[in-house]
Amino acid sequence: MNKTLAIIKPEAVEDGNIGAILKMIEEDGFKIIHLKKTTLSQEQAENFYEVHKEKAFFKNLIAYITSGSVVIAQLEKENAVSSFRRLIGATNPAEADKNTIRKLYGTSKEKNAVHGSDSDENAAKEVNFFFN
Ligand code: CMP
Repeated sequence: MNKTLAIIKPEAVEDGNIGAILKMIEEDGFKIIHLKKTTLSQEQAENFYEVHKEKAFFKNLIAYITSGSVVIAQLEKENAVSSFRRLIGATNPAEADKNTIRKLYGTSKEKNAVHGSDSDENAAKEVNFFFN
């Protein structure tokens, strides 16, 4: 089994979509190993998204991800990283395949409903960041 880290982002939490998104995750065959609802501090958000710190959208990304509650999950499945990225769809919900989480629940590139790890290496780091 491989692991990945999922974050249900503030607008999806605010819109009442936690249950629907977790249902899609379970129906796709993922096991939820750890799950917590929390609000990220500025410091946690900046550390978590450190790889994007030189990007033009970094400031907005940090302001957004700390703007409300998030739900963080450690997921397991065979090929978890690629499988979860297929389930969530493209970064921009407008470009995401139909029936993906971002297509159904995301509203913009920033407010794209969920985060998913982009490699096995980052998945291990991200899981440790929140669950150890
Ligand atoms: P996520 O998977 O959480 O990883 C980094 C996030 O940065 C990404 O999802 C998007 O929400 C956000 N992001 C990426 N590109 C842009 C962009 N051009 N404008 C605003 N936000 C972006």
